[in-house]
Amino acid sequence: MNRLKRNGIHHNSMVKRIAPPHTVHGVFIQDAVDFLKALPDSSVQLILIDPPYNLDLDEWDSFNNYLDWAKGWLNQIHRILSDSGNCVIFGGFQYQDLKKGDLLEILHYTRHKTDLRFTNLIIWYYKNGMSAHRFFANRHEEAVWLSKTSKYYFDLDSVRVPFDEATKMMYKKDKRLNPESVDKGKNPTNVWEIGRLNGNSSERVGHLTQKPAELIRRFVKALSFEGSIVLDFFAGSGTTGRVCIEERRHSLLVDSDKKLHGYLDKHIKQIEANMFLPKYSLMKDANIDMVLKEINLVNRRSLHSTSIMEHRNE
Ligand SMILES: C[S@@+](CC[C@H](N)C(=O)[O-])C[C@H]1O[C@@H](n2cnc3c(N)ncnc32)[C@H](O)[C@@H]1O
Repeated sequence: MNRLKRNGIHHNSMVKRIAPPHTVHGVFIQDAVDFLKALPDSSVQLILIDPPYNLDLDEWDSFNNYLDWAKGWLNQIHRILSDSGNCVIFGGFQYQDLKKGDLLEILHYTRHKTDLRFTNLIIWYYKNGMSAHRFFANRHEEAVWLSKTSKYYFDLDSVRVPFDEATKMMYKKDKRLNPESVDKGKNPTNVWEIGRLNGNSSERVGHLTQKPAELIRRFVKALSFEGSIVLDFFAGSGTTGRVCIEERRHSLLVDSDKKLHGYLDKHIKQIEANMFLPKYSLMKDANIDMVLKEINLVNRRSLHSTSIMEHRNE
């Protein structure tokens, strides 16, 4: 990589990074599989989804044959992702009968029946949760990170965790360590401690299974880049869209429930209090081709300020 750089040649794992003047966010009330079928090949950088798991949590969470249903969208992911693309699927391991769907079944299916590559399993660890008496109380959920090719985009530096001052001072005295790396911070590892949203959390917008923005942010920052497209086809309250507005990514948000509109408005009200919020536009119930055209237009306008960015697979 460094030799190529010295010779002014770009490695084929580098991606174009565009700093768009504003971002575009398409909101679609539609069935996920119908939506995916209309998406062009290689059009999305990051798919980030938190699907239903047949747990009867709500009316959208009940299926006779979970995996048969899930295959409908799992089979579209590889086609839709760009070559540097990533996919994150949230879930958990259920202890109930086989009728229930869970992340294990999804992982098994993607490994044996698709060309997606399994890159990482992330454990989302939280301290707040339900008590239990017949087993150890659960304090984690999982997310699988899949990629389309070995040239997947990964920006570790954007999500490094700073060392505390005392550790930093100590490490800087250690001649074996590179001071620049110490300044950058440490790899967050694949166990992330982030609190769940309590019922009375100010971040709540009313959706039963809303994920914390901080959890989504880490994936968005590390696995996509400014001006790229992030797709969430089980958008729920639109947490992914909220984070994409803040982090200058375009987003496509799909949910079969039209309540997504109201939830998203509440998310946006929360972030609009930030005077540094980047500019964005919402396209509600627009045609997918129109939204993609608009995103292309915005990105093309900012092409003059395009820079090539390196990424390494770590
Ligand atoms: C677990 S929730 C996602 C919550 C989201 N991560 C958040 O932070 O708000 C799953 C969502 O999938 C939606 N859903 C279920 N079946 C769907 C389908 N066939 N097509 C599109 N959306 C669907 C539900 O309406 C629900 O809002």
